[in-house]
Amino acid sequence: MKVLVATEKPFAAVAVNGIREVIENAGYELVLLEKYSSKQDLLDAVKAADGLIIRSDKVDAQVFDAAKNLKIVVRAGAGYDNVDLAAATVHGVCVENTPGQNSNAVAELVFGMAIMAVRNMYNGTSGSELKGKSLGIHAFGQVGRNVARIAKGFGMSVSALDPYCPDEVIAEAGVTPIHSVEDLYKNNQVVSLHIPATDETRNSVGYDLITLMPKNGVLINTARKEVIDEEGLRKALSERSDLKYVADIRPDIANELEEEFAGRVFFTPKKMGAQTSEANINAGIAAANQVVAFLRDGIDRFRVNR
Ligand code: 3PG
Repeated sequence: MKVLVATEKPFAAVAVNGIREVIENAGYELVLLEKYSSKQDLLDAVKAADGLIIRSDKVDAQVFDAAKNLKIVVRAGAGYDNVDLAAATVHGVCVENTPGQNSNAVAELVFGMAIMAVRNMYNGTSGSELKGKSLGIHAFGQVGRNVARIAKGFGMSVSALDPYCPDEVIAEAGVTPIHSVEDLYKNNQVVSLHIPATDETRNSVGYDLITLMPKNGVLINTARKEVIDEEGLRKALSERSDLKYVADIRPDIANELEEEFAGRVFFTPKKMGAQTSEANINAGIAAANQVVAFLRDGIDRFRVNR
């Protein structure tokens, strides 16, 4: 059996070694396709694969059509909006993610970005501190929970909105549950986005919510660019010169935003949240174990398609 690791943005070498060990110990062959530049490379490589490990790599119907032997795809990470689940199901392929394995890395980056924003992008002027500020966490999943844990160390007051998470779970973490999205934005100086990109959330954070933020509000997006209504964001930033937006993935209109709002926006050139060797090891090895468990024993505990 062949397991293809196809990563346009590669794992750290130490993680690849760990993945290799798991795959080869199971008696399977590891095939590595890193930093590929064309979709054709993926289409060619996937032809002989029984299992596939990816990151944000796009796996659409064309990939499933080409992958005649494919039985399982594991997205080494949390968000699986890059995989066409319906096409996977039509082809009888199991799709899984590795929830929680890279969440601390993303949560730490939230604070890297928050500090950068409140210190005025390190431009030499006096900024402000996170201590004493209010933080609103938009979705209390694995990343949101790590963000809450770290925020307490900074002395922030933390609240969270998550209609899919019971209030008790939020409260047990020492976080105040919030029940309306308007309140989340209205009541918090810093808002951190952790919603997945779904039909429900795409373009859902725009002008109306962003302009509810208090003076000097900072919006941090380490989730997905798709959840932002970019023209709404642009309008909000132009009307409110006190607001800042920092994101771990360039918006489609990044150039315009950088030009119009210099010093108030910052974007990583490539998604960096999960780019630590620890997260690569955790998510990569979990993915390898999940591929083996499925191919060998039919275990599909982390399946996301039915
Ligand atoms: C995730 O959904 O797990 C994160 O966005 C990380 O994505 P990446 O593996 O492409 O860095």
